[in-house]
Amino acid sequence: MDLMEYQGKDLFRRYGIPTTPQGQVVADAADAEALARKFGVPVMVKAQVLTGGRGKAGGVTYCPDPETARAAAERIIGLDIKGHVVRRVLVEPASDIADEFYLSVLHDRVSKGYKVIASVEGGVEIEEVNRTAPEKVIKVDIDPTDGLDAGAAREILAKAGLEARDLDQAAALLVKLHKGFVDADATLFEVNPLIRTTGGRIIALDAKVSIDGNALFRHPDLAGLDDTESGDPLEVKAKAQGLQYVKLDGEVGVIGNGAGLVMSTLDVISEAGGRAANFLDVGGGADAEKMTEALALVLSDNQVRSVLVNIFGGITRCDEIANGVLAALDQLGTAPQRLVVRLDGTNAEEGQRILTEADHPSVVPAAQMLEAAKRAVGLARQAG
Ligand SMILES: Nc1ncnc2c1ncn2[C@@H]1O[C@H](COP(=O)(O)OP(=O)(O)O)[C@@H](O)[C@H]1O
Ligand SMILES: [Mg+2]
Repeated sequence: MDLMEYQGKDLFRRYGIPTTPQGQVVADAADAEALARKFGVPVMVKAQVLTGGRGKAGGVTYCPDPETARAAAERIIGLDIKGHVVRRVLVEPASDIADEFYLSVLHDRVSKGYKVIASVEGGVEIEEVNRTAPEKVIKVDIDPTDGLDAGAAREILAKAGLEARDLDQAAALLVKLHKGFVDADATLFEVNPLIRTTGGRIIALDAKVSIDGNALFRHPDLAGLDDTESGDPLEVKAKAQGLQYVKLDGEVGVIGNGAGLVMSTLDVISEAGGRAANFLDVGGGADAEKMTEALALVLSDNQVRSVLVNIFGGITRCDEIANGVLAALDQLGTAPQRLVVRLDGTNAEEGQRILTEADHPSVVPAAQMLEAAKRAVGLARQAG
């Protein structure tokens, strides 16, 4: 789960990581102007979207007076930054920058541990620096069982080229950054840029934070920060219902049980010449109620022209699924899309029999996966 900059900075403050003076998020240009008056100028007006490179895209503006803050907010709210539409801006007192650095702590799947990355080339895209001048990017593995003390932090930062006068402050910041990262079950704590102010303070000017979604149950306060306003409305709804759903841009709706089966269903649809409209895993032990929720969700997507229900019965019994699909259709009323239902595994024959006997106009039973995918793609073409 990714956090917006203002949420990341709030988290930083909680862990005592020095950052910008507290700002405020607003959705209205007049409020941005009022905040500029309240904080005193200059302020920064910054787009709050879950993507980087906001500065380059015109989403970050220095405002020497309140009127400029209003104009900047007016321009930035509604702006599309790499497919993310800006709904709110952060207004915060501007800092005087003397120098910009790069600093991050992240999960490293290769070393199966943590990694600190530091560079004196801050404020720019670190991937680019890493490509053109890799020697300027210092990467150090941190053993999760050892942790990171001030001495080790100092060594990393000195190696990265920070000046002696900045080392004490920067090392203290890095120790807290690492501590916060571990405590929050994060996968990324990135500061770009980390700055030295003209007054000589080292602070985080930007905050990019990702929390491990599988650890959110340990952080109920953070779980509430999940962005529900700019996400796909169907994905937001699915999440609330506890369904594993990802919106895709094709025309064949997909419902399956088990992530692996759903993934291969996407492949088979593509092999049959179609494109999946979504990924939806109803999980193990799917019952009629779960099926109704899943079908209702997929059928409500008006990009969906046909649906492929692909179930491999294990603990889930195919006869129950067959009855579930029929009950769901009864409850949902007539949808324009037709369903290809492929049942295999436990009680598959019984399930097929139930569907065949019901002879529902919307349901096409199928036994094989590729055949089912071809039917679903064909139906989508007819419907399109
Ligand atoms: N509070 C601030 N005070 C002064 N300058 C800022 C402030 N916030 C951002 N900037 C400037 O804008 C640039 C881009 O901002 P940043 O928060 O890093 O957004 P992004 O990484 O999405 O482009 C920074 O490198 C810095 O030069
Ligand atoms: Mg940045």
